[in-house]
Amino acid sequence: SLPDLCKHYEPYFILHEDKLKAIVRRFRDEFEEGLAEYGQDMAMVPSFVTGVPDGTEEGTFLALDLGGTNLRVCEVRLLGQHRFEIKQQKYKVSDELKKGQAVILFDYIADSVDNFLTEIGSEIGTEGPLHLGFTFSFPVEQTAINAGKLLTWTKGFAAQNAIGHDVVKLLQDAFDRKHIHVQCSALVNDTVGTLLSRSYQNGPALIGAIFGTGTNGAFIDEVKTVKKLGQEKIQEAERGGEHAGKYMVLNTEWGAMDNKRTTLPISIFDNKVDRESINPRKQMFEKMVSGMYLGEVSRNILLHFIDSGLLFDGFSSPVLNTHYGYDTAFVSKVEGAKDNAEIKRIILQDLGVEADHVTETCIEIVRWACRVVATRASSLAACAVAAVVLHTGNDGSRAEPDRGVDVGMDGSVAEFLPNFETRVRDALRLILGESGEKRISLGLAKDGSGIGAALTALQAKKAMDRRG
Ligand code: BG6
Ligand code: GLC
Repeated sequence: SLPDLCKHYEPYFILHEDKLKAIVRRFRDEFEEGLAEYGQDMAMVPSFVTGVPDGTEEGTFLALDLGGTNLRVCEVRLLGQHRFEIKQQKYKVSDELKKGQAVILFDYIADSVDNFLTEIGSEIGTEGPLHLGFTFSFPVEQTAINAGKLLTWTKGFAAQNAIGHDVVKLLQDAFDRKHIHVQCSALVNDTVGTLLSRSYQNGPALIGAIFGTGTNGAFIDEVKTVKKLGQEKIQEAERGGEHAGKYMVLNTEWGAMDNKRTTLPISIFDNKVDRESINPRKQMFEKMVSGMYLGEVSRNILLHFIDSGLLFDGFSSPVLNTHYGYDTAFVSKVEGAKDNAEIKRIILQDLGVEADHVTETCIEIVRWACRVVATRASSLAACAVAAVVLHTGNDGSRAEPDRGVDVGMDGSVAEFLPNFETRVRDALRLILGESGEKRISLGLAKDGSGIGAALTALQAKKAMDRRG
């Protein structure tokens, strides 16, 4: 049986209906704040992508993807009829590159593209430069489909001399320095890419969401809701101008939701994760939801139980004592284990705790810690999705025929954390009621960004061709 200390901390992790609804309200307030003014925690970045694809798009493009588990270079062939082909190569981004000078990071990225073109080859015609869509999964204040300044790094990146700089220019300069004939024609967040990719494959979606190393979401709404653009720009966008259209995809940057700490259920374990992170007081929501941090939250819980003399006879291990000593895969493994014997094996192997110290109660505590951390992450993910549905008035209350809402998801948490979707649905039901939950379809849009980047490059190329 579990010690009383578990009961003490449960309210921070098992969120009831009232708490979930309060978090959704907070989300909606922050959406409004971010749409009204620049410089808010919730950045609500206009992407200058003015619609979602319909699946007929064709063409071959290069795509580059920085900000998830791997750096990826892809060649994407959009075949129309909702189909595509993709060739890709993954490259590792070392901690040194993440934290060194930005030019060195971007040189490495350019080299990776060069390597890809040499090794994998390219079927893209060689008249003119190759068009590349750049999925850059960090908060950027975008000013055009192919320009945007980095606002802040997230997810463990800290490269110097990048914040405030146009990341397309940083990349293009690296290509030019190395005489690589590639033109970066579109800049896109991974959530925007996921939304486009899901729509290309599955019909129009409302939300693209990432639950991976980090978490974030994008949705499509009328341009006029983006009040901070100002009346003139809104009308220009609606009337004609460079990015004509009534709609725009908005990148929320919801990882920063409640950085002011008014509503989220922040426990001592979350405070410790935040305090010891390279971006304290930033990305509060992300630190409770995403793959970079779930292992670390659970590690802090286990350490607290060890220090309280309730776990492993008070003995720790080098892995448990190490900052980021294990990652979210541990939580997934424990959650997916079929019985206590399997959890015991995982504890011995992955945590390196001595077998003598692992009692049945210890196994129960570890199981509990992983369960509550994973459950809270899923409930909070549901709050984000529900908030967008309500904010955009897509909760089914409109008179027009109810087509429901489609959400495309990507990322290691959505893909590998057992029970993620079931738990998201459980929380959606509490927030939106049974019928509200049923209207929402959730689907994995794996490797969405590659296709999304290609689709954005296509939109940019068409706009360029129109201008001549
Ligand atoms: C990948 C996308 O599939 O998922 C990336 O191509 C995205 O753009 C990533 O950032 C998110 O997942 P993770 O778990 O790799 O951070
Ligand atoms: C972080 C980034 C955001 C990205 C998300 C998912 O929150 O700031 O831009 O979309 O991670 O990768």
